[in-house]
Amino acid sequence: MKREVFKFKNFDEFKEDIEKLGANIPVSENLEIFKTKVILGDKTAPNSIALNPMEGCDALPDGTPSELSIRRFDRYSKGGAGLIWMEAVAVVHEGKANPRQFLINSDNLGAYEKLMDQMCENAQKAFNHKPVVIMQLTHSGRFSRPDDKPEPVLACRVPVLDEKYGLDDSVRIITDDELERLEEEFVKAAVLAEKAGYDGVDIKSCHRYLISGLLAAHTRPGKYGGDFEGRTRFLLNVIDKVKDATGKDFLVTCRLNGYDGIEYPYGFGVSKEDPLVPDFSEPVKLLNILEDKGVRLVNITMGTPYFNPHVNRPYDGGGYIPPEHPIKGVERLIQGIGTLKSQTKNMAFVSTGYSWLREMAQYVGAGILEKRLADFIGFGRQSFAYPDMANDLLYQGGMQRKKCCIACSKCTELMRADTVTGCVVKDKEVYVPIYKRDVK
Ligand SMILES: Cc1cc2nc3c(=O)[nH]c(=O)nc-3n(C[C@H](O)[C@H](O)[C@H](O)COP(=O)(O)O)c2cc1C
Repeated sequence: MKREVFKFKNFDEFKEDIEKLGANIPVSENLEIFKTKVILGDKTAPNSIALNPMEGCDALPDGTPSELSIRRFDRYSKGGAGLIWMEAVAVVHEGKANPRQFLINSDNLGAYEKLMDQMCENAQKAFNHKPVVIMQLTHSGRFSRPDDKPEPVLACRVPVLDEKYGLDDSVRIITDDELERLEEEFVKAAVLAEKAGYDGVDIKSCHRYLISGLLAAHTRPGKYGGDFEGRTRFLLNVIDKVKDATGKDFLVTCRLNGYDGIEYPYGFGVSKEDPLVPDFSEPVKLLNILEDKGVRLVNITMGTPYFNPHVNRPYDGGGYIPPEHPIKGVERLIQGIGTLKSQTKNMAFVSTGYSWLREMAQYVGAGILEKRLADFIGFGRQSFAYPDMANDLLYQGGMQRKKCCIACSKCTELMRADTVTGCVVKDKEVYVPIYKRDVK
């Protein structure tokens, strides 16, 4: 379903439009600012453009990157972004969100190593730089579907999500013992990622997968739920243990939901009175703890693609007509991330939610960087559609409208149709045949 599509014009008219729509969105034509390097402890990202994690759902059954996965990362690394945030990589088979999700273990370590080497070689050849590459480690929790049927395991019951996905009382809540063991699986996977040459790992804490669910598990009894200390215990234990098990220069980071839009006492970063209103006090408290632990990079997102996708990724076409103009969704993301950043001292923030803006994203991104509301401008769907967008932006005079993502949600349709995903519109040869075959 589509809302009336916002007409993207030139920079001046775009500026007028956002004013008319009353959106607080900074803009600037200073594209040179994207060339700013970002220092992350002992590592340096060569520019301020990030590719955000985008699952291609194209791994082999054992979680090893396939030819199609390798093609995606080839395109990313030849595209010029300074930070490549690899998509969700499961730490255990039962935590995969779909049968084709990446998974790292000692048997397929070599394939991940080769993928990383290839990325570095490509980037070196094309740009004489080395992108920072982060591997996102995940357990899918309530959204687990490792084989051909859902196998959810919950942090706690959440009426709105349970109802939407038909999860009754027979669905299991993960035990404290299982969580204790799972902490070690995250550590094992992080150690493997370091061995494979990745610059760091993200302990994925967003979009209501397992750890994000724990952060909101006010109603969970025991040591991994209830108060703030209990709800953050799993994430913080994993961060500590991974830091202990890896080298000093290895980046330990997390992609965190700053706000999930789910009502209290089931949400994180939401006002107790109104789930439509963020309350950043707990996310800020958590970020400050992470900062004290030496976490130097975070990636902030909002919402969940399964419940309120318009919060997660502003769109024109999707499963329902969003209750707000997409520009309001962009504003919530970028200003929320800026607010969180302003309450930390020494952490680099990746910002999210730019793909709907087409090539206007570069002006908004420049405005955000100028105002220091983020350190990286991160692109999700755009990276499927336009993997060399960074090259155009940095070195070819700017992004081109005709190459941009049109926020049509076909990549999500492919994912929901339980098949591999990518851009049906701008990467036609590969994904149109798959779309025609698999999307009914
Ligand atoms: C097909 C698809 C796959 C995604 N995969 C991931 C993922 O693996 N991990 C993650 O944190 N976010 C994932 N996301 C969310 C994106 O990283 C991003 O937050 C979202 O699309 C909004 O950014 P954008 O406006 O640039 O697309 C995915 C989104 C889509 C549409």
